Amino acid sequence: MTQRMERDGLASQYSIAYSVGSGAHAVSYLIEVGNHLFESPLSYYAQFGWGISPGYENLKAPDFYRAVRPQCLFCHVGEALPIPGTLNAYRNPAFAAEAITCERCHGPTTAHLRNPVPGSIINPANLAPRARDSVCEQCHLGGEVPVPNPGKQVSDFHAGENLEDVFSVYVYQSSRDPTNPNPLTIISQSQQLALSQCARSSGDKLWCGTCHDPHALPKDPVAYFRARCLNCHGTALLTSHPKPNQNCLACHMPRLPAGRGGHTIFTDHRIAIYAPQELARLRAASSVNGSTPASSEDELVPWHNPPPQFAERNLGLAYARVGSELELLPFTRRGYQLLVSAWNDFPNDPVLLRAMGQIMSGTKQEADAEALYDKALAAEPNSTLLYYDKALAAEQAGDGNNAINYFEKTLQLDPWLVDPYQHLARLYTANAQLALAHETYIRFLKAFPESIEAKRDVFRGSGHSTPNKK
Ligand code: HEC
Ligand code: HEC
Ligand code: HEC
Ligand code: HEC
Ligand code: HEC
Ligand code: HEC
Repeated sequence: MTQRMERDGLASQYSIAYSVGSGAHAVSYLIEVGNHLFESPLSYYAQFGWGISPGYENLKAPDFYRAVRPQCLFCHVGEALPIPGTLNAYRNPAFAAEAITCERCHGPTTAHLRNPVPGSIINPANLAPRARDSVCEQCHLGGEVPVPNPGKQVSDFHAGENLEDVFSVYVYQSSRDPTNPNPLTIISQSQQLALSQCARSSGDKLWCGTCHDPHALPKDPVAYFRARCLNCHGTALLTSHPKPNQNCLACHMPRLPAGRGGHTIFTDHRIAIYAPQELARLRAASSVNGSTPASSEDELVPWHNPPPQFAERNLGLAYARVGSELELLPFTRRGYQLLVSAWNDFPNDPVLLRAMGQIMSGTKQEADAEALYDKALAAEPNSTLLYYDKALAAEQAGDGNNAINYFEKTLQLDPWLVDPYQHLARLYTANAQLALAHETYIRFLKAFPESIEAKRDVFRGSGHSTPNKK
């Protein structure tokens, strides 16, 4: 597949390297530049046809260069091979396994292949409840933000472990109140199911696997799921239950309208009793794609507690990330306080140092931010991301020369980053170093020969107007 975009008389054209998603709701597309993966602004929706990819809606000038981070691939790929310290660089080839493998749910297979009998491999259904639920939650518990424990990556999780052994997912407190859950803060089936009376009243018996066979989709969903319900509720229910009661799902697990993108819930997993008006409202409401706190008092809480020694650090990181993403100052402040307090216990933790640095660099304390980044660099030398942050901090402090040095260092480590070229060219221009500014645009175009932005910048830098604008 080739995708092409035209704007202002300039064009950008790419061969698609990979597609993401089964297509039941949507397919997104990835391109490869250098050994870097980027998401195309075009996706295909089962309901709407071609459309702008989720997250691109509000961009005036969409381009092909949204970095595909390892986290996206952790949920959609068997095993991705990201290069540590980079935003979106991968080994060549980028994947040890493309489609989701047996290992993701059944754990390591070596012992089983040597001795292929039941018991030589994990059967998720037989795990202790927390580890069992974690198998599906590794991908199906979206939440607000996952925070890995010190020294861990999300991808270190393996079936058989509890999620919190590796990372904790933070959700809004308001999403957990079963009497009055805020629907705007619930963005995964795992969160909804936990609120259901079925889950709350059956101890640990009910889990995803009670209803879903991960190896096959049911041919007749109505009959298949009805049998699952009656396994617990018993056929005696049907005599006292209002009629008709053929399609349990239509009334208790209604289908919600599909939103744009793949990350909305389509089937209500709260398994509740709805009055007819409420059902009609649910089916008509626009579904949620991403969430915001219910009120200014809303708090972030871990889905399940991490080991106690990491609780403060992980919560601090959760507040810092959500605060920065949604530009919520009270969350950022809260994150900062927690991180300062946790710092004593994790003096050299590069993730904590970087998060604190990012908060500082927005507050006229760039010198402190730089010291934090330097400390983090001691633990992770040559991290592109740390040099990039350092450059931004220097730029914000008005220290153009250091900013130039660090942006140059960033690009020396990784020439396939888009933003540093633009910052750098602006800084050279401000310094009246026009030749260097022009050369920066040429390097930008060399790294991204198809970029409309880069083509335009080179034109502009050379004194020409863009071709179409007479
Ligand atoms: C490695 C990530 C991963 C794991 C682990 C995982 N899933 Fe999924 N699941 C997905 C993705 C991604 C999709 C969407 C389909 C696609 O794009 O491939 C999906 C789709 C589904 C669907 C919808 C299928 C359809 O087409 O209607 C069900 C049901 C489901 N998963 C259940 C489970 C259950 C139950 C478990 C745990 C036993 C589980 N999944 C574990 C990633 C995962
Ligand atoms: C936390 C895990 C997770 C992350 C991170 C994630 N996804 Fe998904 N994605 C899922 C799951 C699970 C589904 C299926 C959801 C459902 O059916 O309710 C899905 C669905 C989709 C779909 C629709 C698939 C279909 O079967 O119709 C697309 C497309 C998609 N995701 C693309 C992406 C891209 C691109 C990224 C990264 C930029 C990404 N996702 C990040 C877990 C994830
Ligand atoms: C999305 C998660 C998931 C993936 C991927 C997955 N499985 Fe499973 N598998 C399960 C679950 C959950 C069960 C337990 C079903 C039950 O007993 O309720 C299971 C059960 C099984 C069983 C039956 C075990 C027994 O003792 O009864 C076999 C065999 C099996 N899987 C093989 C595979 C193979 C081979 C692959 C890869 C091609 C695979 N599975 C991929 C989740 C998964
Ligand atoms: C693991 C067992 C189990 C399964 C499977 C199960 N339920 Fe339940 N469900 C319960 C328990 C336990 C309760 C609470 C006690 C009761 O009402 O019987 C409950 C309660 C309910 C309620 C009352 C909810 C309320 O708010 O008062 C409804 C409705 C319901 N279930 C419907 C379903 C439907 C529909 C299915 C199938 C899609 C289903 N259940 C599957 C165990 C289960
Ligand atoms: C009580 C039964 C039941 C349980 C338990 C259950 N599901 Fe579902 N799930 C359904 C039904 C019914 C559908 C709709 C299937 C259809 O329309 O064909 C569904 C659909 C889905 C889909 C497809 C997208 C959507 O929202 O329609 C995903 C993904 C999914 N479930 C994930 C999960 C996960 C993850 C868990 C565990 C946290 C889980 N389910 C637990 C009954 C259940
Ligand atoms: C036409 C809509 C409809 C269908 C279909 C339906 N239900 Fe219900 N269900 C209701 C309503 C309404 C109530 C509340 C009844 C009341 O309060 O007297 C209810 C109550 C329940 C309850 C809790 C009350 C009780 O009697 O224990 C359970 C459990 C339940 N349903 C399960 C199911 C199952 C399982 C199916 C499929 C076999 C099903 N329902 C099909 C509408 C429906």
